[in-house]
Amino acid sequence: MDAKTPSQSFTTVTDMVLPSETNPLNNLFGGELLARMDRAASIAARRHSRRIVVTASVNHVAFNRMVPLGSVVTIEAQVTRSFKSSMEVYMDVWVEDRESGERTKANEAIYTFVAVDDTGRPIQIAPITPETEIEKQRYDAALRRKQLSLVLAGKMKAKDATELKALFE
Ligand SMILES: CC(C)(COP(=O)(O)OP(=O)(O)OC[C@H]1O[C@@H](n2cnc3c(N)ncnc32)[C@H](O)[C@@H]1OP(=O)(O)O)[C@@H](O)C(=O)NCCC(=O)NCCS
Repeated sequence: MDAKTPSQSFTTVTDMVLPSETNPLNNLFGGELLARMDRAASIAARRHSRRIVVTASVNHVAFNRMVPLGSVVTIEAQVTRSFKSSMEVYMDVWVEDRESGERTKANEAIYTFVAVDDTGRPIQIAPITPETEIEKQRYDAALRRKQLSLVLAGKMKAKDATELKALFE
């Protein structure tokens, strides 16, 4: 299978925040943003794998800034690394200033998707070759994040998480 680049999966989803999607402070409800990010990430994962994909785990989410009612929100998603059947998708979330149009980073998140066949069994996907400096950094770190996610899920023994352990040595 030919290798792809992260940019081939790049996905951008822009939408606004409506009253039904906010918390009592009139800011975007966290669960609504998680769902929007899941949709954007699944499109990126599909673009990389050209397969049916399912969310395997939400590895990291940082809600750094409130997103007020009426905001225009853009989610940028890109596959950072593919393994055998799983892919890490990295997302940056931007909020646009109404008057200046300037974008501020509000949140970021990392999800793992698995490509599956018609019966839901994991299936092999294309490898990925990072090109830019940030793509290379995210590619390298993705292996440690996969190991951490598997250890926390009880699917890998901590002693086998070689690259993750090396961070603490
Ligand atoms: C995700 C799923 C397909 C994994 O199936 P499985 O039988 O555990 O298969 P495997 O153990 O072979 O894992 C498949 C891949 O997923 C990865 N994986 C599984 N759980 C993971 C986790 N918690 N974090 C990171 N990666 C994970 C494995 O490392 C493996 O990766 P690789 O093939 O690239 O090496 C299966 O658990 C599933 O269908 N889950 C439900 C998905 C779903 O419905 N999501 C929406 C929730 S509403």
